[in-house]
Amino acid sequence: MRADNEIRPGELAVPLVETTDASLVFIGRIQTPWSSREECPRQGRIDGPICRITLFEPWTQALDGISGYDRLEVLYWLHRARRDLVRQCAHSDPLARGTFALRSPMRPNPIGTSIVALEDVDGTTLTVRGLDCLDGTPLLDIKPPRHRLC
Ligand SMILES: C[S@@+](CC[C@H](N)C(=O)[O-])C[C@H]1O[C@@H](n2cnc3c(N)ncnc32)[C@H](O)[C@@H]1O
Repeated sequence: MRADNEIRPGELAVPLVETTDASLVFIGRIQTPWSSREECPRQGRIDGPICRITLFEPWTQALDGISGYDRLEVLYWLHRARRDLVRQCAHSDPLARGTFALRSPMRPNPIGTSIVALEDVDGTTLTVRGLDCLDGTPLLDIKPPRHRLC
C-alpha cells in the first residue's frame, strides 16, 4: 500500500494551486463496508455488497422519481486522495503513466464514478450495490443512466 506522500520511480508530483475554479457542494454521504484503501475494491461490482447513500437537506426533494430506475450513475469525491500527481504507477504496475491514462483516485479533481444497482429508496437513503469508495465518502451527484430520461 502506498504511503500518503510516497513518490515511486518514474512518478511526478507538481505544486498544487491554491485557488479553486469551481465550488462543489457535498450533497450527501456514502456508507460502505470499507474503512481503508486496502479493503476497498478498485472498481465496484453490480453484485457487490450493500452500500447506503444518504442525501442532505435540501437535496432530498431531488430524489423524486428516482425509484423508477434500477441503475444509477453516482459521482463522489475521493476526499482522501492526493491531488498532485501528473505521472503515477497503477496498482502492481511499475511503469508510470500519465494520470489521465488511469482511473486512479489520485487526480487533480478526485471525482469517482460508478454505475450502481438501486435496491431500495427509503426517505433520504438509497440502498445500492456497485460502489468502490471508502466509508464516509462525500456524494457529488446522482444521474440516471445515459440512455434514459434527460
Ligand atoms: C480506482 S478508484 C475508482 C473509482 C471509480 N469507480 C472510478 O472509476 O472513477 C477506487 C479506489 O479509490 C480509492 N478510494 C475510494 N474511496 C476513496 C476516498 N474517499 N478517498 C481516497 N481514495 C479512495 C480506493 O483505493 C479504491 O479502491
